[in-house]
Amino acid sequence: MTESPATKPADGDVCQRVKNGLNLEKNGVLKSLHRCHEQQPKHHCQPEEEEVHAASHHDSQYNRPFLESFEETPMLVAVLTYMGYGILTIFGYLRDFLRHWKIERCHIAREKEEQRDFVPLYQDFENFYTRNLYMRIRDNWNRPICSVPGAKVDLMERTSRDYNWTFEYTGRVVLDVINLGSYNYLGFAENTGPCADSAAEITMKYGVGVASTRQEIGNLDRHEELEKLVAKFLGVESAMVFGMGFATNSMNIPALTGKVRTQGCLILSDELNHASLVLGARLSGSTIRVFKHNNMQSLEKLLRDAIVHGQPRTHRPWKKILIVVEGIYSMEGSIVRLPEVIDLKKRYRAYLYLDEAHSIGALGSRGRGVVDYFGLDPCDVDVLMGTFTKSFGAAGGYIAGKWELIEYLRSHSHSAVYATSMSPPVVEQIITSMKCIMGEDGTTIGCDRVRKLAENTVYFRRRLREMGFIIYGNEDSPVVPMMLYMPAKIGAFGREMLKRNIGVVVVGFPATPIIESRARFCISAAHTKEMLDRALSVISEVGDLLQLKYSRRRIQPSLSLPCDDIVFEDIDD
Ligand SMILES: Cc1ncc(COP(=O)(O)O)c(C=O)c1O
Repeated sequence: MTESPATKPADGDVCQRVKNGLNLEKNGVLKSLHRCHEQQPKHHCQPEEEEVHAASHHDSQYNRPFLESFEETPMLVAVLTYMGYGILTIFGYLRDFLRHWKIERCHIAREKEEQRDFVPLYQDFENFYTRNLYMRIRDNWNRPICSVPGAKVDLMERTSRDYNWTFEYTGRVVLDVINLGSYNYLGFAENTGPCADSAAEITMKYGVGVASTRQEIGNLDRHEELEKLVAKFLGVESAMVFGMGFATNSMNIPALTGKVRTQGCLILSDELNHASLVLGARLSGSTIRVFKHNNMQSLEKLLRDAIVHGQPRTHRPWKKILIVVEGIYSMEGSIVRLPEVIDLKKRYRAYLYLDEAHSIGALGSRGRGVVDYFGLDPCDVDVLMGTFTKSFGAAGGYIAGKWELIEYLRSHSHSAVYATSMSPPVVEQIITSMKCIMGEDGTTIGCDRVRKLAENTVYFRRRLREMGFIIYGNEDSPVVPMMLYMPAKIGAFGREMLKRNIGVVVVGFPATPIIESRARFCISAAHTKEMLDRALSVISEVGDLLQLKYSRRRIQPSLSLPCDDIVFEDIDD
């Protein structure tokens, strides 16, 4: 595990922690803090010297330890992974040859005979990966579930007679699979309890559809109540809600930096930003520059260049500079270095757009997201965005901030003007779950869930590390990527886990770099200790079977250690 240079332990803790480090190093057990940085792969870390500098420069901005880990891919594993892809590619070409000569049956979508002279609509070459690699393990995705996506889930069993090109349902249901895949962070994806009851009740009164936009006749009293509640929850002046999280990003970024209204806008975007943010930035027609993931030197360099050089050719100053980041990155499990981003945006007078899709509800002692997690002022973020699909067990998204911002979006955002408004049961699910988190339902259920999620996260991550898996991301992130690397292990891991009644999400290229395939676990407050222990023992068993315990660092198993004092040692090859 590595420790971020930006660590600022609580009062008086710095010396203690370094002292601990030195003592243990004397015993030959612990790597010192700065040596830990050497372990980070290039794209995740800043040069070591600069990192140390960043630590001393920025530590006062952090009110808590910031522990993030990206253990380097072992060399042998990297070589074997590339070889695996090489072999798959050779077989792919061979099979394409057989398909071309009609020796092997071809299932892919392609032009009909009479369209032979057309430019192909389905680009064969681009589909090479899908046809020859993805199809082999396609059974791991799009599995239909037939229950609420809670801590346990029921799956429809299916088989394929043609190597995953088509599937048939056997009619059987795989019951009570422990669900480590859904983004049900606070366990509000439920079909019983106050949220489900209020959603059912409102459906009886308002129906399901709204059949109009907010601007026309689709503006319900419940929408207005929800917006007031969201603003109160986040501690800002105003908020607006939208029917779809993806569209909240892709339609509102163009409204803020769109070409039509203001030419000369610059968007500075983290390289791992979600597709909806990327699409929004592209649709805006603004100039987009990408900085390295969570790398403040890279962001500062872009900001400095933008101020010094201005726009290309004319060198006139940029009209607007918008920094776009996420709270928790859903593939890496990393948490944005928000205090530093805010500092930079203030120094360079840029605006900040923060997507809290995965962090709202899931981070912070009060569940108010990454702003709460770092104890910052929400007013320091110009545009707060989030979705209701994860922690609230509902659908849709919000934009929150200053009153003027929201009033502007109400009339300029395509998703506000042209999209049908949010469905009443969805609105009610969000209102009820949000009030629960705020304690406005008169119980401590929401608070307890926020705390339980944090505990489950730390426990699950620590146990996986102790077992010797390579885990990416921040200690406090409920998104837990576990590295699989090799293409053959993606499918094998998903299948072996399901055989043992554990449902997981596996991810590979193009969603990750080609050699960094992984399983992505999502921890929930609804997971009991027994469920996590069962899942962990199965992961360990499958990990041994498939040889997935790649980590060269071994944590000393110790349940008494607080999460930020975990020690590890290097295992020599
Ligand atoms: C960071 C981020 N933003 C936006 C979205 C889109 O949200 P939704 O799935 O609610 O449409 C997602 C989806 O997972 C996401 O991860």
